[in-house]
Amino acid sequence: MEEIGEIRESSTSSFVFRTEKEVRKHDYVRVDDILAQIWEIKHHSGGTFAYATIIGSTDRRYMPRSPFKVGTKVYRAEPEFAKKVLGIGNEGIYIGVIKDSTVRVHLSPDVLIQKHLCVLAKSGSGKSYTVGVIVEEFIKRELPVVIIDPHGEYTSLRRPNLDKQEMATMKRFGIKPKGYTKQVYEFSPVCSRNREAIPLYLDETNLSFQDLLNLLPNATPLQKGILYEAFKKAREKKIYMLKDIVEGIKEAKSNAKWHLLPQIEQIISMQLFSTSYTPLKEMVKKGRCSIINLRGVPPYIQEILVALLLNKIFEERKNGSIPPVLVVIEEAHRYAPERGQGKSFAGEIIRTIASEGRKFGVGLAIVSQRAARVDKNVLSQCNTHIILKTTNPNDLKAIVASVEGLDAKAAEEIQMLPVGVAIIAGLPLAAPIFVEIRPRETMHGGRLGRI
Ligand SMILES: Nc1ncnc2c1ncn2[C@@H]1O[C@H](COP(=O)(O)OP(=O)(O)OP(=O)(O)O)[C@@H](O)[C@H]1O
Ligand SMILES: [Mg+2]
Repeated sequence: MEEIGEIRESSTSSFVFRTEKEVRKHDYVRVDDILAQIWEIKHHSGGTFAYATIIGSTDRRYMPRSPFKVGTKVYRAEPEFAKKVLGIGNEGIYIGVIKDSTVRVHLSPDVLIQKHLCVLAKSGSGKSYTVGVIVEEFIKRELPVVIIDPHGEYTSLRRPNLDKQEMATMKRFGIKPKGYTKQVYEFSPVCSRNREAIPLYLDETNLSFQDLLNLLPNATPLQKGILYEAFKKAREKKIYMLKDIVEGIKEAKSNAKWHLLPQIEQIISMQLFSTSYTPLKEMVKKGRCSIINLRGVPPYIQEILVALLLNKIFEERKNGSIPPVLVVIEEAHRYAPERGQGKSFAGEIIRTIASEGRKFGVGLAIVSQRAARVDKNVLSQCNTHIILKTTNPNDLKAIVASVEGLDAKAAEEIQMLPVGVAIIAGLPLAAPIFVEIRPRETMHGGRLGRI
């Protein structure tokens, strides 16, 4: 172990040491069996002093109960020791390296599926790029992923990353360009604009009353009553369709039906439903990454579609007919907005999956450039957080409030993060870490999608 200094001042949570060696901010250091991280360095006339915060020890139950003695030796932390204390595994999702080092950061895919993930940062700082890296790792393990993709930017996962600049850094990360043509499936309700996509139709057989309410969010209490009567009647058949509901509504005595009928007929005319619907088993399948390309779909229809699809995934997962799955929700502030920031038909099911999904193996990856506008209940259920550069004060406040282990110091750092560097916090880590996200194997579609 390389000795780098001696403690000059100490408390039970931090210490200051004098050093003559080259040290940098965020370096990990070791005292006895305790890991600490440098967060500030000062030069005085008396020498160079580094300020370190204690993270913990290999035996997590043990944190120092009294400060280190002045004069205690400080060593550079060996990567293996740092990884062990931080809780970074040797296998799992390879997301990048600890900043300014070659220490690879692996996250457990099980933790991501069972505990939910959020990726928060301002626009253009690398959220979708990072999600692309995670999705590549899921594909490699044949773990099912469904991506709600409002911009149609994830279809580039099929193609290898041939960006010259990025190819130059790949070697350092041990990455090679690769496309996942066979594994990536694209579904879209508007195939005229997304020509390579498989048409996305939903199954209209035996919709639940809640599904119907989701489809008709503007129904008045009276109309809901009529709808319920029609639903009860339709349900008497073993198999019923939307047209049976329409028949039931027509039979209602109340005049309120005349306002309800056009609403439901409009839904039918949108052609979201078909008897030749795409079975969910085809979307959520071992070895498959399904992109729900919503590019060109009006926002109101996007929300209905996301709500119905997520409901279906949750139901089928509960009865075990599909495997555990990671659902990526891009632009999550649109689909699960914070109260007072608009309403979305998908909000409720996203909240339900956020709070109960872990029991059933439905993991969420919540992605947003407006942390403050995402439902707090959803954010607070995310146990792993990937934070990239954020400058908006409201968003920073929301991030610091929802991520354990982040403080005012971290908030300052978040504002200065370069593109491609993230703070990863939460499970399974003992403390937030700075990670250089690895280059993508596949082409990044971020810019492509917006054209
Ligand atoms: N880890 C990285 N390595 C190299 N380049 C990166 C990395 N992360 C992001 N970039 C670059 O930054 C650009 C923006 O990234 P990205 O599209 O992921 O942003 P975003 O946060 O998803 O933005 P938006 O909110 O607008 O969707 C990318 O086109 C890419 O060139
Ligand atoms: Mg993006």
